[in-house]
Amino acid sequence: MKALVLAGGSGTRLRPITHTSAKQLVPIANKPVLFYGLEAIAQAGITDVGIVVGDTADEIRQAVGDGSKFGVDVTYIPQHAPLGLAHAVLIARDFLGEDDFVMYLGDNFILGGISGLVEDFRADRPDARILLTKVADPTSFGVAELDADGRVVALEEKPVRPRSDLALVGVYLFSPAVHEAVRAIEPSWRGELEITHALQWLIDQRRDVRSTLISGYWKDTGNVTDVLEVNRSVLEGLEPTVEGVVDENSELIGRVRIEAGAQVTGSRIVGPAIIGSDSVVTDSYVGPFTSVSEDCRIRDSEIEYSIVLRGSSMTGVRRVEASLIGRNVEVTPAPRNPSAYRLVLGDHSKVQISS
Ligand code: TTP
Repeated sequence: MKALVLAGGSGTRLRPITHTSAKQLVPIANKPVLFYGLEAIAQAGITDVGIVVGDTADEIRQAVGDGSKFGVDVTYIPQHAPLGLAHAVLIARDFLGEDDFVMYLGDNFILGGISGLVEDFRADRPDARILLTKVADPTSFGVAELDADGRVVALEEKPVRPRSDLALVGVYLFSPAVHEAVRAIEPSWRGELEITHALQWLIDQRRDVRSTLISGYWKDTGNVTDVLEVNRSVLEGLEPTVEGVVDENSELIGRVRIEAGAQVTGSRIVGPAIIGSDSVVTDSYVGPFTSVSEDCRIRDSEIEYSIVLRGSSMTGVRRVEASLIGRNVEVTPAPRNPSAYRLVLGDHSKVQISS
């Protein structure tokens, strides 16, 4: 069995972060979301991993390397444009050969891994097995309709009137039967070869498409709200450790991790929270569900329920909440007089200011 990990795409919903970096490398508790997926694949005993890469290929290659740090062997598969999930399967044909494979969306996060799912697939070997989860609002997902035996009878992409509340999770298991399906389908109205269409093609050909309902935690980290929510969920299980230096005027409460080389001075950190290596927190409050990456400076500020990426600084700002701050960003207060905001924002930035 092989794995096909999708780490291309355009990431429009995570702009401006994705203007300069890959969304699969956005850190969750200071570790790229993609790494959680690769670990789950390795844990399921799969070592042959193809990673589909697009514009951000160099950055993904630099982060993942040959895969040896995860115990897997990585083959990179360049996709010249994000032409859909089924297109990624199409261009990976040579890599996949005649093997069964798990397709894993590189920006998806599944708590508890995929080992059980892979074992089920190996035992009964249908043509495809999809993962489903109940969602409150199915209109923004791929939605599956099942018969009484749990076989998939129909799939719809973002239906206006969903026929069930079962959404597709970003992990799929396929036999080589899928190759015929991805060759047979046409691009959708949005110009992409849709994996839901390939699955529907298999169903229409009376092939065996089964589903597993997962009850555990799953999220697609495609937008800021979900990135912050996954970060919250992972931080809840954080092992508290102090590898950096915390002075006697500081207070750490609950699950707090201070990574090597970090310095906390005169500050209060209420966990779960993580301060990345070589970051400096001075006279500040860092509240629950916050991940500060490496080489950041937080001085005389308050922040909670947020993620700060590498090399950024905050000085004299309070309070920042529910925010995703990119790399090498500077956040400072405006002068009191004249009362005005001064903004230098990248394309597609989103700012909320009190007025
Ligand atoms: P999506 O989040 O569905 O698509 P996207 O990355 O284009 O994002 P947005 O909707 O915000 O513009 O993609 C799911 C995963 O699959 C993600 O890790 C990117 C990857 N992907 C590819 O590798 N190739 C593709 O052609 C597409 C569409 C996605």
